[in-house]
Amino acid sequence: MSALTDSPEWQALIQHQAALSERPLNTLFRDNPDRFAQFSLNTDGLLLDFSKNHIDAQAIDLFANLAQKTGLGEAIETMFSGDVINNTEQRPALHVALRSPEDQSEYGQVVHQTLNRMAVFVDAVTRWQWQGFKGDPVTDVVNIGIGGSDLGPAMVYSALSDFQLDGIRCHFVSNVDPVHLEETLESLDPATTLFVIASKTFTTMETMLNAHSAKRWLLEASDDSAALAKHFVAVSTNVEKAGEFGIPAENIFPMWDWVGGRYSLWSAIGLPVALGIGMDNFRALLAGAHSMDNHFQSAPATQNIPVMMALLDCWYQNFFDTESRVVLPYSQQLHLFPAYLQQLDMESLGKSVMKDGKPVNVNTGGIIWGSAGTNGQHSFHQLLHQGTHLIPADFIAVAETSSRNKEQHQQLLANCFAQSQALMDGKSLEAATAELLGQGLSEAKVAKLAPHKVIPGNRPSTTLVLDKLTPQSMGSLIACYEHKVFARSVILGINAFDQWGVELGKVLSTGIYDELVHDGETLKFDSSTNALINRCK
Ligand code: F6P
Repeated sequence: MSALTDSPEWQALIQHQAALSERPLNTLFRDNPDRFAQFSLNTDGLLLDFSKNHIDAQAIDLFANLAQKTGLGEAIETMFSGDVINNTEQRPALHVALRSPEDQSEYGQVVHQTLNRMAVFVDAVTRWQWQGFKGDPVTDVVNIGIGGSDLGPAMVYSALSDFQLDGIRCHFVSNVDPVHLEETLESLDPATTLFVIASKTFTTMETMLNAHSAKRWLLEASDDSAALAKHFVAVSTNVEKAGEFGIPAENIFPMWDWVGGRYSLWSAIGLPVALGIGMDNFRALLAGAHSMDNHFQSAPATQNIPVMMALLDCWYQNFFDTESRVVLPYSQQLHLFPAYLQQLDMESLGKSVMKDGKPVNVNTGGIIWGSAGTNGQHSFHQLLHQGTHLIPADFIAVAETSSRNKEQHQQLLANCFAQSQALMDGKSLEAATAELLGQGLSEAKVAKLAPHKVIPGNRPSTTLVLDKLTPQSMGSLIACYEHKVFARSVILGINAFDQWGVELGKVLSTGIYDELVHDGETLKFDSSTNALINRCK
């Protein structure tokens, strides 16, 4: 047993979990009319309602003790101060510096120089002064990247569709499946298309293959390598490799080792977003994130939104043994948010050893999944309501829509709030029986049918409400989840900023590729891998 699970703080939570398990959520509401006021937090147009969770005032005190025991407050300061907290790669994790107005520090200077360069470039493109090889303005931006060089920008561009500029459309190509790029380019004109090759390393196989295909597509149309300078820009730490690809130095926007891929949206990796919604809106996104940074850095644990979300995750995964969390944005514009969170959360917390290399003896990151409401209600919500797994839910709602159809938006909100209510209240056997008898069914039929209609309830959820979907509120929302992930990693004692687990598959794919492109039967791997390769040959 590690010191943490042996500690009085951890043991007290085990005992309190047993006591609270006896008290259904809806009785906690009945017994305490102030429950919402007591268990909700607000900052900058964002409300966190965590009252429909298995907690009480004592649980929150015990959470605060755990946060203190694990040194969370000090760890937050250490991250903001730029210490080397990514110990396996010997790097700081300074994504917060990317959205800080501070422009005089070592990091602040390079960040703001880059933002200013982006501003000049975005201005030239969006004002149609940047000319392609035929002298035409850019109408389409194609971002080629994967993981953190794709998911964040694609999600934010879609979330902020209300702010998209006329005259420029952004597209995101990530998959090495050639169909992804081909389908994207099908309707585009090489003379008016700008490619952003987004890769921190500029070695990622998927991105490099797609970038080379895009280059061929352009050169087939222009037949002049000088066209590359007008149609390709790169965002990378690897200026040398981007140069070898053919992108001139003045078209390369820098990135830095101290920004992890999944935390890089705020750097020049956000360039397609800035091109799509304008630089002022991109800066508002950064300002929203910075305001959440201030909240995270200054609010005490029990008043701190990301910290409270992290402690709730810990509560369920480590004390209720849950395995997943479902994320349900009730907003079509946020439909990519669960996929974005999967990388942020699962690549950060999917670890089996602590920072010192010793095995963990607690559950680390859980499975993050979900999709936009109300669609899920007509598919997987059945399992949330009546399945055998306990799955805490994050509902995300937007109070004010930009749509003119306000009435339909109220239906969306009603469904969101009804789902969290249904998860909590469920339906008892008595209620199901009375309902069926009321419909005139015989007692024998009711006895058979009623058990199928029982919904156990007592299932926890948290609801985040954004006043409006704006660049500012999106910045806050994303930063909130980033900090939640970091806070959880501190409580668990793991490194949230490396991702060694993704390397092995990349290495093995090289050997398999060599076999796939060579004639003859493959016999060198296990029988399954051999057979799969041979079938495709
Ligand atoms: O393979 C995982 C990963 O390294 C992610 O962490 C990263 O966001 C993604 O690949 C893309 O990496 P790059 O930006 O270097 O192409």
